[in-house]
Amino acid sequence: MELRLAGGRVLIAYRLNRSFAWNAAHPPRLPPRPRQVPPATVNLFDRTLEGPVGIAAGPLPNAKWIAAYARLGYGLLTYSTVRSREYPASRAPNLAFCRLGDPTTIEPAPRRLDPAAVTLAYSFGLPSATPDVWRADVKRARAALGPKQLLVVSVVGTPAPDGDGEQLAADYAACARWAAEAGADVVEVHLSAPDTAGERAQMVYEDVALSAHIVQRVRRAVGLKPVVAKVGAARSPRALHDLATATARWLDGFTLINGLQRRLVNPDGAPALTGPGRELAGVSGAAVWEHGRVQVAELTDLLGRCGRRVQESDAAFRPPSREELLRRAAARISEKKKSELAAVGIALEEKDELKVEDSPPRRIR
Ligand SMILES: Cc1cc2nc3c(=O)[nH]c(=O)nc-3n(C[C@H](O)[C@H](O)[C@H](O)COP(=O)(O)O)c2cc1C
Repeated sequence: MELRLAGGRVLIAYRLNRSFAWNAAHPPRLPPRPRQVPPATVNLFDRTLEGPVGIAAGPLPNAKWIAAYARLGYGLLTYSTVRSREYPASRAPNLAFCRLGDPTTIEPAPRRLDPAAVTLAYSFGLPSATPDVWRADVKRARAALGPKQLLVVSVVGTPAPDGDGEQLAADYAACARWAAEAGADVVEVHLSAPDTAGERAQMVYEDVALSAHIVQRVRRAVGLKPVVAKVGAARSPRALHDLATATARWLDGFTLINGLQRRLVNPDGAPALTGPGRELAGVSGAAVWEHGRVQVAELTDLLGRCGRRVQESDAAFRPPSREELLRRAAARISEKKKSELAAVGIALEEKDELKVEDSPPRRIR
């Protein structure tokens, strides 16, 4: 798959006929000079980003890929989903152009790519390196980014053979803590993964109680570091409402949406992918756009209304005071400093704890 840059240069992004491991080891060549996407100031999680465009979880499997795409000027880069143990990728093919339908038919790569029309199916099985390997690599990824670029690390829990929801939540939390310690600016909890511990086949985000338990455990594990939950297409506005209201209190945001889950067939109607766990593939791109747009609008409206209702109905509700905001900022900065210093082997003594001086009040919405 090729990306054409302004000026005619072509960047080979991913070779469809090669394995995941081969592609991971062959990142695109870095552009000779850093580029910038059209500048726009974006403020996210107390940081100012150099560009408003981000890359979702998946296409950047390691620090080398992150470094290459950082050079292209993206403001927010997501390190592909990692696990608490090594996990193999499904066999190639893992990525194919397709026509959305029920089932979805794969197609040959178009001769000219129109980014607004491309629809891709992907089936990788959420592969992961061992935690030792990915934790060291996440550090390298963070070091490859500028101060105005944000590193999101996507984590997923791995069910044990006889594991229950508690085991799954603990596994999510362990990965989240490692990701945070390794330098993730934001931890993304991938809830749009199969819930194999459940009684019926569904995605984790479709089980509201389990999702709430997982994000609560993750929040406890990572402290004040921003945490977002990645969810898939909701079955109904009601389902989205129930999920958001049960999880939002533990989160700093949501990532919408994961690819649609579809059965993938060859043009002759035969299954395009074989092997356990490959009955459904994710479908991304143009075919997902409308689902994503509607769900983002619904969730934005819902969270806005909830916020207003809390303020109106709860007499005890007060926006946090300036002192409280300063205390939280100090805690967040000192936690970040501690982990940065710990990364180079220096401990931050209590007496050195950072103090944030009072400053002119900001308008708080
Ligand atoms: C090649 C590829 C790999 C992906 N791998 C992951 C992944 O590891 N974790 C994840 O949460 N989402 C993964 N996704 C889903 C994307 O993050 C995104 O949610 C989906 O593609 C829909 O968004 P889009 O239409 O803007 O691409 C992957 C998508 C693609 C195309």
